[in-house]
Amino acid sequence: MTDTRPGAIRDHFDTDWLTLREPVDHAARAMTLSQQLAAWLEQTDRSGPLQLVDLGCGRGSNLRYLAPLLPGPQSWSLVDHDERLLSDAARLSIGSRDRDHGPVHFNTIEADLRDPGTWQHLLNTDTGVVTASALIDLVAAPWLDQLVRGLQHRQAALLVTLSYNGEFAFSQPHPLDAEVRQAFNEHQQASGPFGAGLGPKATEALQTRLQAAGYRVSTAPSPWTVPPQHAALQRGLVLGWQDAASEQRPQRAKAFADWAQQHLQQAGSPECTLQVGHTDLLALPPEPQ
Ligand SMILES: C[S@@+](CC[C@H](N)C(=O)[O-])C[C@H]1O[C@@H](n2cnc3c(N)ncnc32)[C@H](O)[C@@H]1O
Repeated sequence: MTDTRPGAIRDHFDTDWLTLREPVDHAARAMTLSQQLAAWLEQTDRSGPLQLVDLGCGRGSNLRYLAPLLPGPQSWSLVDHDERLLSDAARLSIGSRDRDHGPVHFNTIEADLRDPGTWQHLLNTDTGVVTASALIDLVAAPWLDQLVRGLQHRQAALLVTLSYNGEFAFSQPHPLDAEVRQAFNEHQQASGPFGAGLGPKATEALQTRLQAAGYRVSTAPSPWTVPPQHAALQRGLVLGWQDAASEQRPQRAKAFADWAQQHLQQAGSPECTLQVGHTDLLALPPEPQ
């Protein structure tokens, strides 16, 4: 069976998992923030194409959502450490169009985001927008400091989407839902590819840093609703939460396995819907004096 467990507890993400998420991600995103970004771009002078950098791009879902909403011409740098995902991103993004129906240019860059030396130089003076989707709940606080410093120098805008906010709920609840959620949230903050991750605190931590740097920040909820038609995604989520919660509280592993068993049996049934809380954030540079 394909491993569809969420990558929130790993640094390598299964392409099937990202495929399962893409339609649910796109339906959840706060369109108003993308429209606000488009309006800002229209008022901003540029000498050449709009340069965008997508950090942790996976298979390019962010480009496929955002490119058609923003003015052209656009040139994207798609950055990830996973060569396989980058090759999917390149294949799947061919033929993408901007809001003005022009072709979207892109290049893929293999880089480990844990090392600022590999990606900070990508934010050059021409960068207009830095974006990341489903990434920042994995990172640690010093990484956000580096990101904000990089943005500030270039006066680029930032759009960060689908950051997990610590909430999930089932339409058919189980008495252990709250305990599993708590253990999962602790796990996100105890471990992770970037060190102790920020998990549900990531958006607030980023917002504080951006505002201190003079950025104008807007946030909006972008909750996932995972209906029965997405049974494989429902199952992947349950298994991922079980894995992480059990790693965090090994003494509860048996209880969490029983919890998962019940939710796995319900997955895909007409009554079964999951809600997962996320937040989107848009930051625009300070108005020129
Ligand atoms: C949850 S996925 C999101 C992918 C994509 N942005 C999307 O919305 O579908 C997180 C992405 O971050 C990438 N990633 C994780 N750790 C990384 C690292 N140290 N350097 C570069 N990319 C990393 C993973 O390979 C994965 O593509």
